[in-house]
Parts: sequence; C-alpha cells; structure tokens
Amino acid sequence: MSLENQIYIRKSSRNYLDDEIDMTVIHEFMSNVKPLVEGVNYSYEILDADEVKVRAGWSSPYYLALYGDEKEYGLENLGFVFQQLSLYLQSMGIGSCWVGMASPKVKKDNFVIVMSFGKSDRMTREKSEFKRRGLEEISDFADEKLIPAQLAPSAINSQPWYFKHDGEGFDVYQKKQNILKRQVLKKWNPIDMGIALAHLYVSNEDTFEFYKKTSFDEMKGYTYTGSIKI
Ligand SMILES: Cc1cc2nc3c(=O)[nH]c(=O)nc-3n(C[C@H](O)[C@H](O)[C@H](O)COP(=O)(O)O)c2cc1C
Repeated sequence: MSLENQIYIRKSSRNYLDDEIDMTVIHEFMSNVKPLVEGVNYSYEILDADEVKVRAGWSSPYYLALYGDEKEYGLENLGFVFQQLSLYLQSMGIGSCWVGMASPKVKKDNFVIVMSFGKSDRMTREKSEFKRRGLEEISDFADEKLIPAQLAPSAINSQPWYFKHDGEGFDVYQKKQNILKRQVLKKWNPIDMGIALAHLYVSNEDTFEFYKKTSFDEMKGYTYTGSIKI
C-alpha cells in the first residue's frame, strides 16, 4: 500500500509487540526522504526501551530520538520528514507514536522529540473513528483536497493548522494558542504543522511545493507558516 493510503487508516500506536525489527529499512528510507526545506540539519538515533524515559502509562520496544536545528523551519521540517517515516513504518506493520512526554536518558544537544515504534497489531482504524475538526473549520471553505491534512496527528490532537485558498494553492497558518496551552504546545505545534504538510506531500507527491511569500495576509489569532501548491 502507498504511503498516502496509510493516512486514512493510521492511528498512534500505544500497544506494541516485542518482535525484532530490521533497522536497515529505516536507514534506507531516511536516506531518500524529502525535506520540507533544504539546509536544515536534523538527525535521529534508534534507542531501546531502557534508554528512554517515558512519562506516559505505556511503553514501546524501540524509540527514535530526534535532534534538530532551532533554525527557521527546524521543527516543521522535523515533523515533515519523520511523519513520512511514520507512514512508511505503518505500511510495513510497524506502529508508531510521536511522544512529547519522553526523552533519552542520556541528554544530548539539540534534542527535540521522541517517536516510539514497534511491531503492532493495534495501529489501524476506520475513517469514522478519526476525531478531527471539520474541513470548514480548518480552511476558508471546505475543500476535499485538505482531507489528508485534516487527518494528520498532532500534539494532544490540537490540530493547529489553517489553510487559506490562494489561487491554485494555499497559505498555511498555525493557530496561536492561549496562554495556558501555549506552555505545552509551543514546541509541538510547529512539528504538527510539518506533519500535516507531510500528509499533503505524500498525497500530491508530483505537484507539492512549499515556499514562503514575502507578502501575505495577516490572520488574527494565527501566524503564517508558508504557502503550498498541491
Ligand atoms: C508532536 C506530538 C507529540 C505527541 N505527544 C504524545 C505524548 O506525549 N503521549 C501520547 O500518548 N501521545 C502523543 N502524541 C499523539 C497524539 O496524542 C495523537 O497524534 C492525537 O491524539 C491524534 O490521534 P491519532 O494519532 O491516533 O490520529 C503526540 C503527537 C504529536 C504530533
């Protein structure tokens, strides 16, 4: 099955089997993955369960610890790149979950976030089981082209994205959170934006373009992330 098809059946996996995984599939995929923007550094390492501290009521046999630049688009790019990996793993029967509430026991500079992964038999669902905002809430008008982004995972399902039609493409905005939520979400929401863009990329692989306009409409309550053609 294509990566695009995974979007409609995936769910974050929090139940894993202990099967061993051949990690070369990850390294091979990552050597060809598409970045959102060029020139932003990132890296990953694969850790075992005993190398990671997880502040959640569940655990997984393996984790990816993700590292990156704090440069412009550093977090969006990380979300974009590793969500493609997540969909790829899902296509091979390997479930995954972004885990904000986890960190490697050995601290390193530029650590951003963890993704759990492992073989799983509980990582799919029906489309009706997705809990998501309506298309008309995430765009100036409901547009089925945006369904892949609508279904994207995000930190505490915050779905911070907004897509404003502009000619053939969209201007993409990130919701500003209120002061309480901002504490938790300020690091994760840019990752969420990259994740939603990854879903639009794998669904429109041949036509997807991301770029930053020098002049764009301000939107109250939102910040401009960039613009896309899909
Ligand atoms: C950046 C990010 C951080 C997340 N952190 C956690 C976490 O710490 N613990 C957890 O159980 N799920 C975490 N999640 C998973 C979300 O809760 C989940 O994606 C969302 O509720 C939507 O559900 P779905 O992924 O099954 O579609 C995180 C997701 C993202 C994108």
